[in-house]
Amino acid sequence: MCGIVAYVGPRDAYPILMKGLHRLEYRGYDSAGICLLNHDIRVFKCKGKVSDLEEYLVGKDISGTIGMAHTRWATHGEPNQINAHPHFSQNKKVAIIHNGIIENYSVLRSELKKRGFHFTSETDTEVLVHLIEDIMTNEKVPVEEAVRIALNQVVGAYAIVILAKDYPDKIIAARKGSPMVIGIGKDEFFVASDATPLVEYTDNVVYMNDEEIAIIERKAKLKIKTIRNKDHTPYIQKLVMSLNEIEKGGFDHFMLKEIYEQPRSIRDSMRGRLHIDQGIVTLGGIQNYEQKLINAKRIIITACGTSWHAGLVGGYLIEDLARIPVEVEYSSEFRYRNPVISEEDVILAISQSGETADTLAAIELGKAKGATVLGICNVVGSSIARATHGGVYTHAGPEIGVASTKAFTAQVAVLTLLSLLLAEKKGTIPKSQFQKILLALNAIPEKVDRILKMSEKIRDIANIYKDVKNSIYLGRGYNFPVALEGALKLKEISYIHAEGYPAAEMKHGPIALIDEHMPVVFIATRRGIYNKVISNIEEVKARKGKIIAIVTEGDETVKKLADHYIEIPDTEEILVPLLATIPLQLLSYYIAVMRGCNVDQPRNLAKSVTVE
Ligand code: G6P
Repeated sequence: MCGIVAYVGPRDAYPILMKGLHRLEYRGYDSAGICLLNHDIRVFKCKGKVSDLEEYLVGKDISGTIGMAHTRWATHGEPNQINAHPHFSQNKKVAIIHNGIIENYSVLRSELKKRGFHFTSETDTEVLVHLIEDIMTNEKVPVEEAVRIALNQVVGAYAIVILAKDYPDKIIAARKGSPMVIGIGKDEFFVASDATPLVEYTDNVVYMNDEEIAIIERKAKLKIKTIRNKDHTPYIQKLVMSLNEIEKGGFDHFMLKEIYEQPRSIRDSMRGRLHIDQGIVTLGGIQNYEQKLINAKRIIITACGTSWHAGLVGGYLIEDLARIPVEVEYSSEFRYRNPVISEEDVILAISQSGETADTLAAIELGKAKGATVLGICNVVGSSIARATHGGVYTHAGPEIGVASTKAFTAQVAVLTLLSLLLAEKKGTIPKSQFQKILLALNAIPEKVDRILKMSEKIRDIANIYKDVKNSIYLGRGYNFPVALEGALKLKEISYIHAEGYPAAEMKHGPIALIDEHMPVVFIATRRGIYNKVISNIEEVKARKGKIIAIVTEGDETVKKLADHYIEIPDTEEILVPLLATIPLQLLSYYIAVMRGCNVDQPRNLAKSVTVE
């Protein structure tokens, strides 16, 4: 949450910062601001999106070859101009941008008030910049040292960038708990919350670690030290990301592009892992932990949001195929409920961004209790990827639409590979079945492609239901997580209330909601618990609910019962989530677009939730 970008070098900072802010806008879009430095230090900010800031800046002095910018997801204080970042210190000589939460801000604020500081905003961030000014003035230390001293007094999470009027060639950046990457070009440096703002300028990057401070000086070498004043040698890595991956490529929205990328992204998530010719599965990133997984008393899957839904599918898969007990936990609940964890447990953390604060905290908890912790992440070099003992990257490519689509199917594909690998090693499925599933898995990308070709029909259904206020999504077995994910997609981007439920549980509550105005989306594919779902459909029909069914190609029974149906190709029961999710993503997308919603940046949401 909140996007940060900074630049120092020979070029004009403004275009680099604005382009960077647009790329980071998925992290929050309540307000935006910029700070530029030459003879003077200037801050401009406003409520709203980055495009509002651009409009606001017309005719203003935007010169300077050093600067920083911020796009905000509000935590403390309403989203208005005053609370927008950057924030100035009292003497207006130091400015800060911040992503995270300063938990002890009220104590620090009271102390600073006693020392004569006036606060203009309601943010926790302003406390930090006043504290830095206070230390610079009283202890007569340079800005980087003041930042270091101040950070020792701070409890909470932060990624910050500081510019100071008296240090016109210096950027100070620091992180703890919120991501920060530094790009190193020729005589120029970039700082950002993720690598997207710097991809066209350099592929040399340093991912900052917690409690590190970077001192970046024009034409000098990058210096990194810890907040305990220990020097660290920057570890420069090659960035694996291309400009194409982070642009819309002719699609109206990132979300649509990402939905359409799924034949490719699912294939990429299996590349070099699913060896059809040899009939085996390998997962290099967890090779050293295979035995641990095979002998695990229990696997705990922890995740948030859509990743949690992928985790639910993973739980079904691992128990079904590899016969290892699995618990699937919301990270935010798991970390606070004193769970029983032993050294024989393996924790599997799933996260697209690799930055979700609650999942990171769940990982730390698991590690502290001696469990082996593995990650399934999309963003290479992310905090979760680094905090776990081992793991598997999903390789879906950058996901920019706030509502997760291709990351979900890539996570499910990786979890399928993991379950198959464990089942094969444990001998819990017959060889012939193993081989059959491998072939079916290999055919999934092509089947996804076929579903995408039905977008016209899905759009027609969307047009009929675009104005509803409520909806219910029902599925059983492997299709239950699909129902949850379908409902989440709709509510996230179209703001229509949607409930996902296990189809049979409907009669214990949601059935009371059904009348002729209630659309009910059934994931009613032929494999698995098919006949029972038909009974559930009958129950809805008897109460005049409108039925939209996802059915297997060639199915005649459900088609006859449903008001509308979308056919998906047949596959093995355990692979159905990889297909059944696709039409639900498209349905939500079209409904949201028809309602005039901003699908890539839905209200109040952010893609990377780095606060609790
Ligand atoms: C936010 C995003 C969701 C995502 C969830 C978990 O809520 O809007 O799309 O599923 O965070 O994020 P993660 O990066 O850990 O998968």
